[in-house]
Amino acid sequence: FQKKPLLGKRVLITAGPTFEAIDPVRGITNRSSGKMGFAIARAALEAGAQVHLVAGPCDLTTPLEATGKITRTNVVSAKEMHAATMQSVDCDIFFAVAAVADWGIAKPAKEKMKRQGKQAPILEFVANPDILADLAKTVKTKGGKPHPYCVGFAAESTDLQKHAEEKRKRKGIPMVVGNIGPDTFGSDLNQLLIIDESGSKKIAKAEKLQLARQLIQLVAKKI
Ligand code: C5P
Repeated sequence: FQKKPLLGKRVLITAGPTFEAIDPVRGITNRSSGKMGFAIARAALEAGAQVHLVAGPCDLTTPLEATGKITRTNVVSAKEMHAATMQSVDCDIFFAVAAVADWGIAKPAKEKMKRQGKQAPILEFVANPDILADLAKTVKTKGGKPHPYCVGFAAESTDLQKHAEEKRKRKGIPMVVGNIGPDTFGSDLNQLLIIDESGSKKIAKAEKLQLARQLIQLVAKKI
């Protein structure tokens, strides 16, 4: 156990949901409190890293701001999160913890849409950029290891292990962390399934910060 295994390392983290505007007062979003991503940011800072936290709309304070080792960029939409993240590709570890909306609204209305009797609007969606997949495309090999080391997250309603393994292959990343169970949203507790090249293992239910610390120790050994 090393106390500051990430000293001198740069860690990039996306956290929270994204929000896709339908009009100035309405939108669609994903369920995410941001707590897991912010816990990872705190754990990375404790481990000595310099952190860039790209946060979607969430009501959380920036961890350990007084260290001066964390910068935070607040974003709203997936497109904005993509742009902010791609500006920081030059990092050692990337944790894609954000619950990014897979689709945005093709033409968000400039003014609030008015109700038209009982008729409901039909919304047209467009696919959002895949931040993790795009960042993973920039990965190079440094000292025989992937650089940056990319960690994806998975929250599924069924077959977590199968979907998470499939995600790891499809996105071409070395590690996927699955959130076990449906009760993680907004909770301080979580349970993780870690999938990497050596197989899978569970980290038992604990506070998100405890899990984040364990995850940081694990990932620090990979780089
Ligand atoms: O397969 P899926 O896209 O659901 O994988 C989830 C992982 O990908 C998470 O780590 C999430 O942060 C990341 N992701 C992303 N950009 C997207 C969608 C998902 O970075 N547009």
